[in-house]
Amino acid sequence: MKVAALRCITCGSVYGPEELDYTCPRCGPRRGTLEVLYDYGKIRRGFTREALKKSRNYTMWRYLPLLPVEDERYIQPLRVGWTPLYRFDGLAREYGVRELYIKDDGLNPTASYKDRASAIVVIKAQEKGKRVITCASTGNAASSLAGFAASTPLSTIIFVPKAAPEAKLTQLLIYGAKVLAVEGSYDQAYDLCLEAAERYGWYNRSAAINPYLVEGKKTGALEVAEQLGWEIPDLVLVPVGDGSVISGIYKGFHDLLELGFIEAIPRIVGVQAQGADPIKRAFERYNGDEVAIEDQAADTIADSIAVGKPRDIVKAVKYIHAAKGSFISVSDQQILEAMAELARRTGIFAEPAAAAAYAGFRLLAEQGRLSRSERVVVMITGSGLKNIASARKAAQAEAEGPYTIGASLEELERALRKLGLAP
Ligand SMILES: Cc1ncc(COP(=O)(O)O)c(C=O)c1O
Ligand SMILES: [Zn+2]
Repeated sequence: MKVAALRCITCGSVYGPEELDYTCPRCGPRRGTLEVLYDYGKIRRGFTREALKKSRNYTMWRYLPLLPVEDERYIQPLRVGWTPLYRFDGLAREYGVRELYIKDDGLNPTASYKDRASAIVVIKAQEKGKRVITCASTGNAASSLAGFAASTPLSTIIFVPKAAPEAKLTQLLIYGAKVLAVEGSYDQAYDLCLEAAERYGWYNRSAAINPYLVEGKKTGALEVAEQLGWEIPDLVLVPVGDGSVISGIYKGFHDLLELGFIEAIPRIVGVQAQGADPIKRAFERYNGDEVAIEDQAADTIADSIAVGKPRDIVKAVKYIHAAKGSFISVSDQQILEAMAELARRTGIFAEPAAAAAYAGFRLLAEQGRLSRSERVVVMITGSGLKNIASARKAAQAEAEGPYTIGASLEELERALRKLGLAP
């Protein structure tokens, strides 16, 4: 077995990987999320920075020795991970940091970061002999799961809030998932899915309770470190809803530190939407003991992080405390502005939740909380094509258009004169 054990994030109980699928029975599904433990000494023997340098596998599977896959036959052919880490010097100068990098995970097969986790769990489901896989999601985790299950024998049953954006619903349908659009919030859809999975024995990919998701989500951090030549950045900004992506980013750096590939864990800052920031609030009250959980009703334009009852809150708070990081929150207006600026200045089209990370970067700069010596990485976790209605809002807040004209040169010239662009 590659996975040595599973350990409860709250009480520290250790379980064998065959003993449990989900959470610590003593602490329950919310507080009892599990960490996947490895024998790093054993991994270190064959898995080195030099071996990686020689690898020609430019997907997340280049890190296979560090991933919880027992049966490689179940790895799907879709190209996931090894997404570009772009450097933008003009923006770095403008915002007063040494280097600014943007990692574009909208380029994954189903256009979000969640593909890294789905790629792992369709394998775990099959290793465990499951026939049905399910998930509740704000949209991306579900569409990603549906895409990755498509070429497997697994049937996919999805629970999404009825208000999920059209593009995400369409992805689910085209990949052939059975979609249940729940009349309620994401938080309600999640609880229903949890109950159904337990009752019918479906394999559950919902955030946090499945310990293997964070293992897929850690690969973004592994890539950032390798793409920067194993010199860690000073600061990594991550958008946060349930808290799983940011937990994964921490776990990736943690594993690299254990292996001796890097010398420290970077400061990680989680960015929440102001209308859905329970993890930020819990973090601010955290003193190293128990994580205080206070849920809220979520209200934000950033649909992917509209989470009022975050499921990975305990891990996220503890990990970011260990990383000497923090959480900040941004308004919907700041998210829309960030979305437009990011697209216009870099060519990267992010969905609102993803743009929240860039909005967080701008906010830190505005508050004078960045230093000239810093190398910053912003994680862009989903494509802007996922939520066109919001993108349109972001675009039109900044500029007018489109301009409707007749199909003639005269009409064109009249329009150009109006726009001050007359030749
Ligand atoms: C695009 C995007 N960004 C960020 C997140 C936040 O991830 P998490 O809910 O694990 O905190 C999600 C989750 O759905 C997402 O889809
Ligand atoms: Zn426990």
